[in-house]
Amino acid sequence: MLAVEAAMRAYARKFGEDEDKWGIVGLLHDFDYERWPTIPDHPLQGAAILAQRGYPEDVIYAIKSHAGDDIPGCPRVSRLDKTLYACDELAGFITAAAMVRPERLRGLQAASVRKKMKQKAFAAAVNREDITRGAEQLGVDLNEHIQFVIDAMSGIADELGLVSALAANESAGRGVADRPGDE
Ligand SMILES: [Fe+2]
Repeated sequence: MLAVEAAMRAYARKFGEDEDKWGIVGLLHDFDYERWPTIPDHPLQGAAILAQRGYPEDVIYAIKSHAGDDIPGCPRVSRLDKTLYACDELAGFITAAAMVRPERLRGLQAASVRKKMKQKAFAAAVNREDITRGAEQLGVDLNEHIQFVIDAMSGIADELGLVSALAANESAGRGVADRPGDE
């Protein structure tokens, strides 16, 4: 959720949109999933709760429209809708790709994410078509989109638990060496 929020915030900045609003959409889009893991309860039950709480229409609509084409009458229309769809599965896939590297997100390139997308067994639960179609519908180049989301996630790598293990060791090493009176 935090990864999708970071990606949504970054795209809001890029597009000159309301960063907090876009961030909320990323943060909340799957909040009802644990309680209602099947479509159409997810995301419609969650959408109903958000409506009761007075969330803006466009936030609720974007969340409803992210569930693929399985919710009738909820096509992705606005850039907000399309950005959520484009970032959702991709953020999960990038997380999986980062987890198998000691450097995690650091230095991760779109090209190696593309390579992993071709390996059917890798993160098999992530639908590749959602990723490619998401970029297409948003009208962005897939490689640029992947790199953009990697960069957005890198900004909160510590919160995502995706800080390079190597970096942690390096700074721990420096910490010891830099202790005053340690000469
Ligand atoms: Fe979802």
